[in-house]
Amino acid sequence: MLSSIQFALKFLKYKIFAKHKKGHGIHSPFVFDLINNVFKDRKVDNDLAKIFLLHHKYKHSKQALIFDEKGAGTHQQTKSKLKSRNNQNIQKISTTEGKIIRNSSVTKKYGALIYRLVKYFNPENILEIGTSVGISTLYIAQGAPESKFTTIEGVEEKIQIARKLTRAEHLQNIEFICNDFDSGIPKILKKFNTLDFIFFDGNHTQEATESYFHLCLKKAHNNSVFIFDDIHWSSDMERAWNTIKKHEKVSVSIDLFRLGILFFKPEITKGHYKIKF
Ligand SMILES: C[S@@+](CC[C@H](N)C(=O)[O-])C[C@H]1O[C@@H](n2cnc3c(N)ncnc32)[C@H](O)[C@@H]1O
Repeated sequence: MLSSIQFALKFLKYKIFAKHKKGHGIHSPFVFDLINNVFKDRKVDNDLAKIFLLHHKYKHSKQALIFDEKGAGTHQQTKSKLKSRNNQNIQKISTTEGKIIRNSSVTKKYGALIYRLVKYFNPENILEIGTSVGISTLYIAQGAPESKFTTIEGVEEKIQIARKLTRAEHLQNIEFICNDFDSGIPKILKKFNTLDFIFFDGNHTQEATESYFHLCLKKAHNNSVFIFDDIHWSSDMERAWNTIKKHEKVSVSIDLFRLGILFFKPEITKGHYKIKF
């Protein structure tokens, strides 16, 4: 994980040098349409407003939660109380629902973007890697209530909260899988012929991120959309993003600083865009 100062400097550089907020200078009609129909859209419809309310409510929840940490940690997680157990690589986290959401879930701005992307592309089969307590799950499921949506998380205590949140919104199209990614993802992939939309948001190491990308690529088709969270969160994640976006099957990559989006359409001109969002 980068220090706060390193991260702030990177963000500042992105804010100064990233362009195309309004689509000016973009020659790809596909990317131009995406900017104008999705990235620039700030309308909040009733469904999104309901998710915002629930997100806001749980962001302040003081409900205690104790669990064994999985993966490479999350934003500011080092501020939580971490204890090594028997010197093994397992860390006991004692926190609250609200803190988890504030430290590691998508923010309202990016949650809304994911909701709009899902609505725009209308995917049939969706996978989310890293449910946590279900905030991004809510945005995805609300955007595509008719889809077949599977989400995987290694911590049972978090999945229970995610179930509670999605039940509150009467979202019934979600299959929650509690499993380690390394053994769980291959099992999930066997159930799908193809995947249309994948949100990668867990185990932020270069090795794991690249490995999940290669596994999921086997189920991608020309219209699939892959979204990676936290692409500039650490040097490891930046290396993963820089490697993945250059894969021969990727036609367009979009860097929005927090999120990285990949498309695989062979008919569109290849390009790597850094877009101010
Ligand atoms: C950044 S959080 C996901 C946040 C969520 N997508 C959201 O925006 O609300 C990443 C999650 O991945 C889980 N995770 C990390 N490594 C894992 C692994 N190897 N197996 C299973 N779960 C893992 C963590 O427990 C954590 O809840």
